[in-house]
Amino acid sequence: MTIIAIVNQKGGSAKTTTAVNLGAALVESGKKILLIDVDPQGSSSKWLKASNTKKGLYDVFAENTSISDKIIETGISGLSIIPSSPWLIGIEKALASEVGAETILSRQLKQISTNWDYILIDCPPALGILSLNALVAADEVLVPLETRVMALDGLAQLLRTIDTVKERLNPNLEINGIVPCRVDKRTRLSLDIIDDLKKRFNGKVYKSCIRETVKLAECPSFGIPITMYDSKSPGAQDYRSLAKEFVGRN
Ligand SMILES: Nc1ncnc2c1ncn2[C@@H]1O[C@H](COP(=O)(O)OP(=O)(O)O)[C@@H](O)[C@H]1O
Ligand SMILES: [Mg+2]
Repeated sequence: MTIIAIVNQKGGSAKTTTAVNLGAALVESGKKILLIDVDPQGSSSKWLKASNTKKGLYDVFAENTSISDKIIETGISGLSIIPSSPWLIGIEKALASEVGAETILSRQLKQISTNWDYILIDCPPALGILSLNALVAADEVLVPLETRVMALDGLAQLLRTIDTVKERLNPNLEINGIVPCRVDKRTRLSLDIIDDLKKRFNGKVYKSCIRETVKLAECPSFGIPITMYDSKSPGAQDYRSLAKEFVGRN
């Protein structure tokens, strides 16, 4: 079982799109996946129709209730989810004076059964206590990156945070890879950014890129991943190719 935090503090960098569609492509190839939605906005929970209006994950963080009780089956065979809760919006405040607050998820996940091949954690667009918990709990970090101007700006900060977490809290943390997302192959810009990424982070950049396609933006409102929404679409192909490369890296 490998725990993967899908992190990028920039909103709109395709974390949720990648968490759900990579998860769906992995279950298609026979893997068992648990998705944990720690973003208070709950986008992947809504997408997979697992929205939780109750305290849910909040109780796990604030009251130490067991995370195992929060697991829900999605309609997709092999894919389970621990949904987000709107209560998580208040978690920073609730945990402000809690010693070791950044290790809560990690300690909880040590008690979870090892039924899954991968646990994917969909993080919020901030490097706050929730993303920090994901980084401390994770074996590896997957960074989806929107291949547009300014997308690289936040990357240096993210990599520094990962280094600090590795140094102080989770020495085994590794960067699994950087996934170029929302790639528009018709423009030079996307390709230039990918070239630049490869120069700087060589082996860490995934060969599979996720193209910008309308269908990928549409499928959340239908409550299904791209592999089911349009199985032959470029988006489905890209996420399958990513899943294959991802498994190869583990
Ligand atoms: N490859 C893509 N093609 C088209 N739209 C995309 C693609 N990837 C993400 N999006 C859209 O971009 C927006 C932000 O993506 P999302 O996955 O929610 O980012 P994050 O979780 O990092 O905030 C969403 O509306 C999503 O549907
Ligand atoms: Mg998101």
